[in-house]
Amino acid sequence: MSADVRNIDALSTQTRRYPPPEGFAATANATAAIYDAGLEEFWAAEATQRLDWATPFETVLRWEPPYAQWFLGGKLNAAYNCVDRWVERGHGDRIAYHVVPDDGPAAAGCRDLTYAELQRHVVRFANGLRSLGVGKGTPVGIYLQMVPELPIAMLACARLGAPHTVVFGGYSGKAVAERVADMGCTVLVTQDEAMRAGRTWPRKANADEGLAGGATQVEHVVVLRRTGADVPMQDGRDRYWDDLVADVSDDPRSCPCEPMDSEDLLFLLYTSGTTGKPKGVVHTTAGYLLGAATTHHYVFDLRPESVYWCAADVGWITGHTYIVYGPLANGATSVLYEGTPAHPGRDVWWSIIEKYGVDILYTSPTAIRAHMKWGPQYAQAHDLTSLRVLGSVGEPINPEAWEWYRTHVGGGTCPVVDTWWQTETGHILITRLPGVTTLKPGSATKPFPGVDAAVYDDAGNVVGPGGGGNLVLRRPWPGMMRGLFHDDARYRESYWSKYPDAYFAGDGARVDEDGDFWLMGRIDDVTNVSGHRISTIEVESALVSHPAVAEAAVTGRADHDTGQAIVAFVSLTGDDTGSAELATTLREHVAQQIGKLARPAEIIFAPELPKTRSGKIMRRLLKNVAEDEPLGDTSTLVDPSVVETMQAQVARAARDD
Ligand code: WTA
Repeated sequence: MSADVRNIDALSTQTRRYPPPEGFAATANATAAIYDAGLEEFWAAEATQRLDWATPFETVLRWEPPYAQWFLGGKLNAAYNCVDRWVERGHGDRIAYHVVPDDGPAAAGCRDLTYAELQRHVVRFANGLRSLGVGKGTPVGIYLQMVPELPIAMLACARLGAPHTVVFGGYSGKAVAERVADMGCTVLVTQDEAMRAGRTWPRKANADEGLAGGATQVEHVVVLRRTGADVPMQDGRDRYWDDLVADVSDDPRSCPCEPMDSEDLLFLLYTSGTTGKPKGVVHTTAGYLLGAATTHHYVFDLRPESVYWCAADVGWITGHTYIVYGPLANGATSVLYEGTPAHPGRDVWWSIIEKYGVDILYTSPTAIRAHMKWGPQYAQAHDLTSLRVLGSVGEPINPEAWEWYRTHVGGGTCPVVDTWWQTETGHILITRLPGVTTLKPGSATKPFPGVDAAVYDDAGNVVGPGGGGNLVLRRPWPGMMRGLFHDDARYRESYWSKYPDAYFAGDGARVDEDGDFWLMGRIDDVTNVSGHRISTIEVESALVSHPAVAEAAVTGRADHDTGQAIVAFVSLTGDDTGSAELATTLREHVAQQIGKLARPAEIIFAPELPKTRSGKIMRRLLKNVAEDEPLGDTSTLVDPSVVETMQAQVARAARDD
């Protein structure tokens, strides 16, 4: 860690205050008055101004807990709002995406995609999909890396009224097949290989492997040539993207945008819950699109001349909302970067910002901490004076990282927006507004206008200033999930059973004397590794599916770089006591089953897992062991010595590091 970071660490950052920069408030998109309008009034006004409707809506909100419906009677098309209308209004030459390939902004493969070009690509691919029988209501799976064809495929689906599910490129083929099968997709769009950090990674091969084990309803696989690798193509099922669109029209009139009801399904995005089966989070058309566009406009203070960059992956909700639907619905210019922060050099991010004059950067605390570890010299070597607003999302941002971001990336003046939200919420719900809010490093500050957030104790009472509790939302918002796909019972159980009158987010939080929110991480069996949600039970199931494993219990421990790291406690079948080789094998096995992102950082072998007399694994205790914290009460354990053996192993592993 550099000297700068240590100095910042030493400051009492939590008590610092940063009012909006001078001059910012005068021209900001949001002024303090934004908080004055009523909930329905605010969103109705935004919906009328911000979106184009084929048929205007009649009813703003119908709230029959736990299901909300917004903008009933209205018809619109998301792709029309994101693409066509900008071309029709004479902005066809405006750049939608500065496309930066894996090799960085100096590479020959950089290209700019205007709104007019985007429209032609979307129309062609939509026509291609139509030739495979895709139409309104046909679910389509998308398993692509951060290539422009990813937003193009999503928008082509939206144009046709075909709901999509995007599966993050880092997931295994098995995870792809599971999601695609659950949604009933008949078409899967993928690529030959992905390019990341200067290397190629299989995608089509993963997809084939996954499809071979399930998802038999998939009739067509469309394969984008990214690296040109020779991948096996299955006759009758597989088509190359370029062949599919070779002879189709790119004239928008050849494939009109399907007018969709406000509440028609736009997409499913699968996310981890507290059981092994991923949850298909339902997002519908109008409310989601409006929430995405409105928050994008106000939270980032988007200007007509802005060059905006969200460095997340489109495969997560952050990318859906803030790389694709929000920015395009606002007619914005964005950066779409295929690669990683360290290739071709550790300054690649800063050279992207310099090259394109990026004024808004949105990323995760994990990425900021990685840059922090490498030192500020990489950022300092570039002109970053174009930056105006910095955003953070995905995990609680520690005040040290917040300060580093503001100082070394933001030149000591840019406001840092910490934004809290979830796959389920669709868009940002707790955030500061630049030009309005006084910032506190580490706090997500206030609910967005029209959002009613609170902290409840277990009995459902509001917790007063300073006290910790559960974050809840008490009124509906436009982009909120419309349930879990085909699973009403799980929707009610996961989000609406803890409190009768409020949405239970699964996060711990406290509110301070000024009404500012401080997020404290997940309180359920979901870990957050580098901002990626991973269910501990999903990892346990993957481990137990290996023949050597008898039982597994997984927990998250605090990690300086990744926020949390996965620790797995494993007991083996037979007399095996475990070895470094087996630990490697099991980590690879998890990567195979779920994806590399779920690989445990550490595997602790134990002859037995600590259980209560009723046979339940004591997860709380395992977390304490993993974090090397006092164990508390172990009197309910059948055999307390089990835990001591584990503690010894954790201590040994720490020495080996
Ligand atoms: C966590 C990502 C603290 C939280 C958009 C939430 C945060 C989960 C923040 C959702 C933040 C997200 N501060 N924690 N600013 N933003 N989280 O569904 O635990 O991938 O419940 O959505 O990330 O993760 P998801």
